[in-house]
Amino acid sequence: MLTPEFTRRRLSRLDPLIDKVVQETLDEMAAHGPEADLVFDFGFRVPFRVISELLGLPEIDFDLFHQLGAARFDVSKGGDSSFGAATSSREFLIAEVARQRTDPGEGLIGAMVRDHGDEFDDVELGGVADGVLLGGYETSASMLVMSTFLLAGQPEAWQLLQTGSDDEVTAIVEELLRMLTPVQIAFARFAREDHDLFGKQVRKGDPVLVSLVQANRDPRTWDDPDTFDPHRSTTPSHLAFGHGMHRCLGAELGRMELKAALRGLARRFPDLELTGEDIDFRELSIVYGIDSLPVRLWQP
Ligand code: HEM
Repeated sequence: MLTPEFTRRRLSRLDPLIDKVVQETLDEMAAHGPEADLVFDFGFRVPFRVISELLGLPEIDFDLFHQLGAARFDVSKGGDSSFGAATSSREFLIAEVARQRTDPGEGLIGAMVRDHGDEFDDVELGGVADGVLLGGYETSASMLVMSTFLLAGQPEAWQLLQTGSDDEVTAIVEELLRMLTPVQIAFARFAREDHDLFGKQVRKGDPVLVSLVQANRDPRTWDDPDTFDPHRSTTPSHLAFGHGMHRCLGAELGRMELKAALRGLARRFPDLELTGEDIDFRELSIVYGIDSLPVRLWQP
């Protein structure tokens, strides 16, 4: 139902929106700088604003969803915390679908209600919208923050983001996706029949988890896989967006956001530096990331 909405061609209409969101977010950071927390002030705000506009939820509460997003992927506090966060977010979207049935908006929720409202009920459409909202900001946010962390030690790439060609920026973003792979495992697949999978016996019905991180650092595919190479060829492609029928719906949107946001950040704040002593990486989360990244945007 949604795949046609997420092709590169169809998404190109969002280029101006993404640029506007990036510039407004950078303006806000400049107004409050030179200190900033890159997670809260930038990483989450850019994809959250883009995805909520795309869905047709421009007034949605950023602070609430910021907490819920992290809580859903965090499995360190047990299932109750994660499912509780999932329920609140889904209920909000189910209610929004119900509301838009009588007053459909311009965004994706309005389009789903108009085109598929008879086939699916509010719970089903709300669940789809919730998947898009969640998939659409927690992952891109994590990529933006961890990319900035990594790029702090990569002056050549930081410079290329400011002055490089589109192809050079694309190569950097693809290499960041390969190195950082924020969604660490693909969704579980279940074997339809008995298999011998690389010498391991998998029985019908067994779950199979694929480590995308490990695939993206496989020395049989990548030379010197643990080294960040801003000029690495973009073929073969990495597996940061998964593979096959459930490959990430928002891969092209994610790429567009990363290119615009990282380029915008490097151009606006070329002297950005990390100021935190100890960086807290998430310990038990399906989406890997950093919960706070203090930076100085320019020298006062
Ligand atoms: C850089 C950012 C992103 C990364 C690294 C990422 C990564 C992934 C991965 C690894 C999967 C599972 C694929 C599999 O099991 O084969 C996935 C699924 C998904 N992603 Fe993303 N994603 C990103 C951005 C987005 C965005 C912006 C959206 C917004 C639409 C999105 C929506 C989804 C959805 C709806 C699914 C489920 C697809 C299905 O089950 O068929 N993602 N993503």
